Amino acid sequence: MRIDIITVLPELLDSPFGHSILKRAQQKGLVEVNVVNLRDYADDKHKSVDDYPFGGGAGMVMKVEPIAACIEELKTQRSYDEVIYMSPDGELLDQPMANRLSTLGNIIVLCGHYKGVDERVREHFITKEISIGNYVLSGGELAAAVLCDSIIRLIPGVISDETSALSDSFQDNLLAPPVYTRPAEFRGWKVPEVLLSGHAANIDKWRLELALARTKERRPELLKDK
Ligand code: ADE
Repeated sequence: MRIDIITVLPELLDSPFGHSILKRAQQKGLVEVNVVNLRDYADDKHKSVDDYPFGGGAGMVMKVEPIAACIEELKTQRSYDEVIYMSPDGELLDQPMANRLSTLGNIIVLCGHYKGVDERVREHFITKEISIGNYVLSGGELAAAVLCDSIIRLIPGVISDETSALSDSFQDNLLAPPVYTRPAEFRGWKVPEVLLSGHAANIDKWRLELALARTKERRPELLKDK
């Protein structure tokens, strides 16, 4: 999979993609993440990527020309399955959406800033708008990092224990059961006996019961379809 992220703040993405699982996924060649600086596509002498809104009002609007030039150049190199715009008015990211996106070949992710992008970008280039939650961030970069993390970890081979991504909270619409590690007792707080028993079937049964109980208590709406 290849992800091209278009941003005016490429440095903001250095850290999320430069460590741990996302870094290793790139090193293993399972995903190629290419961060594109939108300013490189601004053609005026000030390299401006934003301008005042027609009709007045507060805030700046991201200009259509640099974004068009950038997306069109990327498209000369390969075809894209989705051109995504990170925006609080997009479709809410959830696990089924991450699952579907993780099966795609190439995607572009455009990070918004200021008051957002000129509407003509959304009309003519964007195929999908995604929000990571009902709140407003200062820019789309952190949202893009969240989206990419949720996708990349699902690509086969990215997580060494390949069953682990599938047993996450929200796969199967269930929250994950509690987990423990050594020591078996700390300050008198004991790990549930069944987990120390070595009896795989009983452990699976316990985990399912606890996952159901936790989901019922915290997120009962997830159980509606069950
Ligand atoms: N940009 C600003 N806020 C956002 C959000 N909640 N989701 C996605 N992109 C955003």
